[in-house]
Amino acid sequence: MDVSNRAFNFCAGPAALPEAVLQRAQAEMLDWHGKGLSVMEMSHRSDDYTALAQKAEQDLRDLLSIPSNYKVLFLQGGASQQFAEIPLNLLPEGGVADYIDTGIWSRKAIDEARRYGTINVAASAKPLDYLDLPVQAEWKLSDQAAYVHYASNETIGGLEFQWVPQVDAPLVVDMSSNILSRPINVADYGMIYAGAQKNIGPSGLVVVIIREDLLGNARASCPTMLNYKVAADNGSMYNTPATYSWYLSGLVFEWLKEQGGVTAMEQRNRAKKDKLYAFIDGSDFYSNPIAPAARSWMNVPFRLADERLDSAFLAGADARGLLNLKGHRSVGGMRASIYNALGMNAIDALVAYMAEFEKEHA
Ligand SMILES: Cc1ncc(COP(=O)(O)O)c(C=O)c1O
Repeated sequence: MDVSNRAFNFCAGPAALPEAVLQRAQAEMLDWHGKGLSVMEMSHRSDDYTALAQKAEQDLRDLLSIPSNYKVLFLQGGASQQFAEIPLNLLPEGGVADYIDTGIWSRKAIDEARRYGTINVAASAKPLDYLDLPVQAEWKLSDQAAYVHYASNETIGGLEFQWVPQVDAPLVVDMSSNILSRPINVADYGMIYAGAQKNIGPSGLVVVIIREDLLGNARASCPTMLNYKVAADNGSMYNTPATYSWYLSGLVFEWLKEQGGVTAMEQRNRAKKDKLYAFIDGSDFYSNPIAPAARSWMNVPFRLADERLDSAFLAGADARGLLNLKGHRSVGGMRASIYNALGMNAIDALVAYMAEFEKEHA
């Protein structure tokens, strides 16, 4: 395959995938392992697909050192469907759940959960204009919360927890945009979920990692398809799963292992974000407003000194193969999403362009 035309894709999601993974998928596309068919055309009940799916799960377990008392589910409906699935499975009728509001994604989770019960917003970053995280000492947690929900990385705002909240209730975390970016201790959480289309694989898949004792308490009204226990009892194959997305995610997990796993990713991601933030902070032309201790490693929003230059900046970036740098429509400005699949060469290319643009326009 000619990769000379591959751009640097800074999209927040669906995001860049490792080139080696795409090449492997291409090589296996028409004839998977000499079987004469593609993965897309395989029965999900076949021995070949079952083995492939189980290997993907095992590789993810290895990467995150997932303890054996956690189930790993490969579900559909994206992270957004989890916003409803979580209360339907974990919030009993008449119960209360605590939520932390740190931006657009955690607010979406709050709004959806409110359809199913009493939601206590125990802390909010709103008084901080969503530029910093509310310190845990000021959180107003409920005595009997069924769980505490938060988003470890706000993909749009660029605000990331660099610490794990200490709470008594099971911690439920939306890790869509920073899972696999560095090591975590799975046992800190009751449940972790992540839409695939950033650090895992293609869209169409959401990964749920859930402690076994939290299974089996879904409401009677919970649709069968949304019941975690049903999914767990059926190996995430109660119905036909997103077979190709699962396969491709498996290739990403293999690639991650070859790279040295999440410890290697941490080193690489730290160096990437350090270089980009240092450049932004060192310039009077670009700025990032997030409190340094809460800055995201994965999504770096930044502004130009004069927003009238935004479209020229984006056009120049596009022309150099630096794609999808436009910030989310709700916040404007720019955003560089620098997930695992992007290497330091992407940061170098971006910083070189930013410096050049500044020189021309400052
Ligand atoms: C942190 C976070 N949570 C949830 C979502 C929603 O994911 P999905 O589109 O898979 O429903 C996103 C999507 O970008 C996200 O970044």
